Amino acid sequence: MAELFDSYKSNYGEAVEGSIRFSGLSHDFFLVAKTDLLRRLVVERKLRQGGSAVRALDVGCGVGSLHPYLDGAFDSLDGCDVSQESILHASQHNPRVAYRTCSTQGLPYEDGTFDLAFASCVVHHVPSSSWLDFFLEMRRVVRPGGVACIIEHNPYNPLTRLAVFRCPFDHDAVLLNAANAASLFHKTGFRDIRSEHFLLLPSAKPLARRVERVFAPLPLGAQYACSAHV
Ligand SMILES: C[S@@+](CC[C@H](N)C(=O)[O-])C[C@H]1O[C@@H](n2cnc3c(N)ncnc32)[C@H](O)[C@@H]1O
Repeated sequence: MAELFDSYKSNYGEAVEGSIRFSGLSHDFFLVAKTDLLRRLVVERKLRQGGSAVRALDVGCGVGSLHPYLDGAFDSLDGCDVSQESILHASQHNPRVAYRTCSTQGLPYEDGTFDLAFASCVVHHVPSSSWLDFFLEMRRVVRPGGVACIIEHNPYNPLTRLAVFRCPFDHDAVLLNAANAASLFHKTGFRDIRSEHFLLLPSAKPLARRVERVFAPLPLGAQYACSAHV
């Protein structure tokens, strides 16, 4: 896995662009939608209660594509990935983010370090036999009362399936649906599990986003986020 993503350290964005070109949407459009969702999560999950600082971790951050869009979303941001080359690339482009290389066995952080840990398009690259361990590690590094969130491809969306088929680094992908994700959160001891589908409409306008939220419980959008409290 590390070697696969090491080889995309300089052209990760281009590979994604190539796989979604048929949609007429840019990679930026997807990155903005995901980071808007993470900003909203901080508010909805009351992570700033009492004015406290929010320390976040991006697990499997790759080359840090999301990080330029997360300016000011948290008080500090850490990122880790099994791909050392991707981490090197990310740290050259995002000096305000603290990066570490991790192993598939665990995350290099103390228990309860973060208020929020999220993983975007990572779990479908983790062998399904290790999914429970992956969720347990996310839970371990989040403080009691903190939140973990995964963002994943929606396997029921045919355009998502086409993008995955066209993506050169997704050939090993094992997609999981929102119910599978919720069950993994449940089995690993998380509580207050919520899922929402998004990226349904090809617009970032506030009205489009509001319409998407109405349909979020249905498995229509290109991706979904599943989050839960520790
Ligand atoms: C499709 S990329 C997503 C990168 C980034 N999260 C994003 O949204 O642009 C998947 C990333 O997950 C990383 N990865 C796979 N298994 C991992 C694991 N067990 N722990 C940490 N990172 C992992 C890969 O090295 C790769 O960088």
